[in-house]
Amino acid sequence: MSNYHIKHLEEYFQVYRKSIREPENFWAEIAEEHFLWRKKWDKVLEWDFTKPAIKWFQGAQLNITENCIDRHLGTRANKTAILFEPNNPEEPAQHITYKQLSERVNQFANVLKEQGVKKGDRVCIYVPMIPELAIATLACARIGAIHSVVFAGFSSAALSSRINDSDCKLVITSDGSFRGKKSIDLKGIVDEALEDCAGVKTVLVVKRINSDIHMKEGRDQWLQPLLDKASKECIAETMEAEDPLFILYTSGSTGKPKGMVHTTAGYMVYSAYTFKNAFQYQENDVYWCTADIGWITGHSYIVYGPLANGATTVLFEGVPSYPDFGRFWEIVQKHKVTQFYTAPTAIRALAKHGTELVDQYDLSTLKVLGSVGEPINEEAWHWYNDTIGKKKSPIIDTWWQTETGGIMITPIPYVTPTKPTYATLPFIGVQPALMDENGQELKGNQVEGRLCIKFPWPSMARTIWGNHKRYKETYFSAYENMYFTGDGALRDEVGYYRITGRVDDVIIVSGHNLGTAPIEDAINEHPAVAESAIVGFPHDIKGSALYGYVTLKDIGESRDHNNLRKEINQLITDRIGPIAKLDKIQFSEGLPKTRSGKIMRRILRKIASNEMDNLGDISTLLNPEVVQNIIENKL
Ligand code: PRX
Repeated sequence: MSNYHIKHLEEYFQVYRKSIREPENFWAEIAEEHFLWRKKWDKVLEWDFTKPAIKWFQGAQLNITENCIDRHLGTRANKTAILFEPNNPEEPAQHITYKQLSERVNQFANVLKEQGVKKGDRVCIYVPMIPELAIATLACARIGAIHSVVFAGFSSAALSSRINDSDCKLVITSDGSFRGKKSIDLKGIVDEALEDCAGVKTVLVVKRINSDIHMKEGRDQWLQPLLDKASKECIAETMEAEDPLFILYTSGSTGKPKGMVHTTAGYMVYSAYTFKNAFQYQENDVYWCTADIGWITGHSYIVYGPLANGATTVLFEGVPSYPDFGRFWEIVQKHKVTQFYTAPTAIRALAKHGTELVDQYDLSTLKVLGSVGEPINEEAWHWYNDTIGKKKSPIIDTWWQTETGGIMITPIPYVTPTKPTYATLPFIGVQPALMDENGQELKGNQVEGRLCIKFPWPSMARTIWGNHKRYKETYFSAYENMYFTGDGALRDEVGYYRITGRVDDVIIVSGHNLGTAPIEDAINEHPAVAESAIVGFPHDIKGSALYGYVTLKDIGESRDHNNLRKEINQLITDRIGPIAKLDKIQFSEGLPKTRSGKIMRRILRKIASNEMDNLGDISTLLNPEVVQNIIENKL
C-alpha cells in the first residue's frame, strides 16, 4: 500500500524519508495505485540538471481527463465537480456534476477537433472565471492540445505577445466579464490583440455578459451553437507521459515572459497527491480556492488536483469586495466550504474591514485555511488564524511557484504544528537546500540563504517554450546541479523554512509576480522618458507596491509631472495590465549607477523603503551625487 494520505507527524517523517531514499519506488507506488494509466511506464525517472533534462514515468501513456473525470463516473456521476458561484450573489450558483462535466468537456473537445485543432497544437484561453474556463482547459487536455491560459486581466499587448510566443492558432474568449459592479469588454481586448497575431485563424466566443460585440467574419464564432451540435462522447487522446499538457507564462526578471511548459504524467501525480495531503481532503468536503485559473494556483488547485481526487471545487467569478467585504464569508456559509485557499493580499484587505462582516456568517464548516503567493506577515497570519479559523483550523502557508507546478513547502494540516509566517517543512519528495553566495550549501539549522531544490520532483516545469537555453540559465546555472528558485529563505532551529522573499528583480504585488524589466520597457516607450528603474516598497495591503524612478529627456522638463505620471501608468496598463501600475513615480535627474553603467536598484529599493541610514557604501558609484538628490525629493 502506498502512503497516499498522511495522517500524523510520525507518518510524515517516515514517508518523507522513504521519498528521499527511494524516490523512484515511492513515486511509482503512488502513481500505480491512485491513477489510471493506458500503459505503465518503463522507467520512473531519468534526470540531468546540467542539460537540464527531466523525465518522469517515461513510456507511460494516459490522458489526464480520464483521471479527472471518466474514472469518477462509476461512483461520483451525480456528485458536484464544479460549484460555480457567479459574480452577482442574486444569480443562482451552478452545480456541475461529474457526469455533466464529462459531457460538456467532450462536447467542447469535439468542437475544437471540428475546428481543426490537433494533438500538440497550442490553444490560447482568455476567459474569465466561469465554468467554460475550466471546461476549455480540460477539453484541450482531452484531445492533447496544449492549453495556454492567459489571465483575463492582462492587456491586449500582453495577450498578443503570449499568443505569438507559443504560436496559438485558436483563441477561446468571452463577450465580456463581470467583476464586481463593472463589466469588462474582453472581446474588444482580444480583437485588439489579434491585430498583431496573424497566426490566429479562429476565435470561439462564450456568451457571458450579453453585450453587443463585433464578430469578425470568417474568424469569430459563438461557441454555444457549435456545442449544441457536438456529441457528448469524445475518446480521449493517448498522451505520452512527457507530452506537454500546458504552457503558462510567468514574469522573468529580464525580458519577455517565460512560457513554462508542464508535462502530463508527473504534473498529474504531484498536483493530485499534494492536493490530497496539503488540504487533508475528504470525500464530502467542499473545497474553495479563490485564485484565478489564469495563474498556476488555479491550474493545479482549482482544476487538476481537486478533480483528480474526485473533489467538489468552487469556482468564483467575482471579487472579495462585491457586494461588500463579507462576500467570501457569505460564500463559505452558503456552500459549507471546508477548505479555503487564498492569498495574503486578500487576507490583509479583508482584515482592514474588521470582524463585523465576518461575524455575521457561520464559518464553522472550515477545517483548513491556505495561504499562497507571497510571504504572509505575522499580523495577517494571526487575523486569519483567530478571526476566520477561530484558532481551530490550521493555516497552511504553502510555498511554491509556477515553475514547480505544485506545493513544495507547507505544513500538512493536523499533522505539522504550524508557526506564524513559516511554510514549515518540505512536502514529500522535495529536497530543499539553502546556498550561500559562494555556492556552498548551508548545512544544519539556523541558517539563511538562497533557496534551491536538489532533486527533481514530478511536476517541475521541463522547459521554457521555445527557449531551453533561458530555462537552463534562469534555473540551473546559479548553482551546480540545483534548481534555483529565485527566493531567499531561512531554516530555524527545528528545520522549519520561512520564505524571506525574492532575491532577483521580480516583485510580488498583491500576489502577482511582476518583472521589473517589462515595466521599465513600457515606461521607456514614453517619448519624454530617458530612463527608469522600478523597485518594490512595503505596502499594507499589497505586500509590496511599485516605486518608479524616472529620468526625463530635456523635452520633458517643462511637462506637468502629474500628467506625465498618468500617461506613464496608462502605458503600463496598455502594455501589461492594471496590476503593474506604479504607486509612486519620482522624477529624478539621474539614477545611481555602477562604473560599468548598471543601475543600482539596491540603493533605490532602500530609499523607497525609507531605509536611508542603511544605504551601504555609495562612494564607488559612477554618480554618487544623485543619491542625495533622490533622497531629498523622495515621495
Ligand atoms: O517568491 C515566491 C512567492 O511567489 C513566487 C512564485 O510566484 P508564482 O510563480 O506566481 O506562483 C505563485 C503561486 C504558487 C515565489 O517564488 N511565493 C509563493 N508562495 C509563497 C511565496 N512567498 C512566500 N510564502 C509563500 N507561501
